[in-house]
Order: sequence, then C-alpha cells, then structure tokens
Amino acid sequence: MPNRKDHTIADAEHIGPRHVAIIMDGNGRWATQRGRPRLFGHRAGAKRVREIVETCPDIGVEYLTIFAFSTENWKRTQVEVAGLMSLFRRYIIKETRAVHSFGARVRFIGDRVQLDKKLIALMDELETLTENNTRVHLTVALNYGGRDEVARATRRLAEDVAAGKLRPQDVTEETLPTYLDTCVLPDPDLVIRTSGEARISNFLLWQSAYAEYEFVDTLWPDFSRKEFTSLCRSYGIRDRRYGGVKR
Ligand code: FPP
Repeated sequence: MPNRKDHTIADAEHIGPRHVAIIMDGNGRWATQRGRPRLFGHRAGAKRVREIVETCPDIGVEYLTIFAFSTENWKRTQVEVAGLMSLFRRYIIKETRAVHSFGARVRFIGDRVQLDKKLIALMDELETLTENNTRVHLTVALNYGGRDEVARATRRLAEDVAAGKLRPQDVTEETLPTYLDTCVLPDPDLVIRTSGEARISNFLLWQSAYAEYEFVDTLWPDFSRKEFTSLCRSYGIRDRRYGGVKR
C-alpha cells in the first residue's frame, strides 16, 4: 500500500469503507437545545436516516448498520421508551415503500424477545419484503447490546456442543461469529459516533475489533450527507495494518 501522502481523494473513493456502522447519538440534546421534549429530537433523528442510507451507494458503502435502541436504553423513562417504540413502528410503516423502491435490504439485529409483537411483525415483514434487494444492506440494531449478543451466541453454541453438533475444539474465531446476529455481514470498517462522546457503548464489540473509529461533535439530527461522505473519504486515506507491519 502506498504511503498516506501518496493518496488522493480520487483513490479514497476506491478504498473507502465497505461497511459503516453508526452510533446515532445526540437526539436528546438537540431537542433540549430547542426547548423541546426528547422525542422531538428522536423524530428529527429518524428523518436523517433516509438521507444517509441513500448516500451509501454513491460512495461505495455496501453495508450500513445503525444503532437505534440498546439493551441499556430500557433504563430511560417509560415515556421515552414508549415514544421510541411507537416511533419505530410508525417509521417502518412510513418508510417501507421508499426503502424497498430504493433497493435497500433491511435486517434487524438484537434480541427481539422483549419487543412488542406488533413491532416484531413489522420488522419481519420488512425483512421479507426486501430480502432480494442488493443496492445497500441496511441493518438496524434494535434492543441490541454487544455483550448480550455474545451471551446469546454462546448459549446457542453451547447447545450445539451439548447436542454433539459441534466439538469444543471446533470453537474458533471463525466458527464463533457464525452464531452472532451479524453472521451474514462483513465486519464494519468504520464506526462513527455523533454528538462528541468517545465511547462505543456496547455496539458491535466482537465485529469492530479492527474497525476505525470517528467521533464527531455533530448531533445526530444535524448529521448530513456531506459529513458522512467526508468521513468515508478520510477513512480511505488512512492506512490500516490489522496489527501487522507496514508493507
Ligand atoms: C441517541 O440520542 C439516540 C437514540 C437512543 C435513539 C436513536 C433513534 C433514532 C435516531 C430514531 C430513529 C431510528 C430509526 C431506525 C427509525 P440520545 O437520546 O442518547 O441523545 P442525548 O445523548 O443527547 O440524550
């Protein structure tokens, strides 16, 4: 790989991230700054999602994974949790046609067990409707936590070992991830978090082992196509070595 200084923006388009994961943070603060309730910020945040999804094919991003609701988010007030769940239901109903005609394949990761039955049905329908689409792979993490995912995966793996379907010596870095929610996805190349917090908050813990991170101050409802494109381009001019040495 050439030195960083040898790259141009044109090169970056060819070596940009294939899979970008985003922690969409800052909706609450965005609303508070405007003297509005937190749900106003979540609604504004939901409106940003379409533009970011639609930017992906233009900049070579094939997979986009977004963190919509974490296993820790249940600790928020009952009003906020109920408001978010209702927003997810309404958002799926409202966006289904646009997302499908755009050619996005939608998947959900996370533990569905605690979710409302109506929401689960909408998630299932959207996954089925879009299952042959290939323009961009949109994965929505809903009731998702990285540790919870690893624990659920390990439980299933242990069941397979107990049933004699898998030998303990066959549990490797290659077989374990086949039990994760993300088993059909490549690992993320770039993880972006908005709103100035430099934490990963239990997002894609296993999968992001070699990802690049970008923490930006922009609050999610203000995150634009332009900023997204610029972050993906600067990813392309960085030098990733995966723990090896520079060639
Ligand atoms: C973080 O902001 C955001 C969330 C917990 C929810 C993310 C949800 C959306 C963007 C809504 C739409 C998503 C979909 C897929 C329809 P925060 O409340 O933690 O903000 P704060 O840190 O400023 O309080």
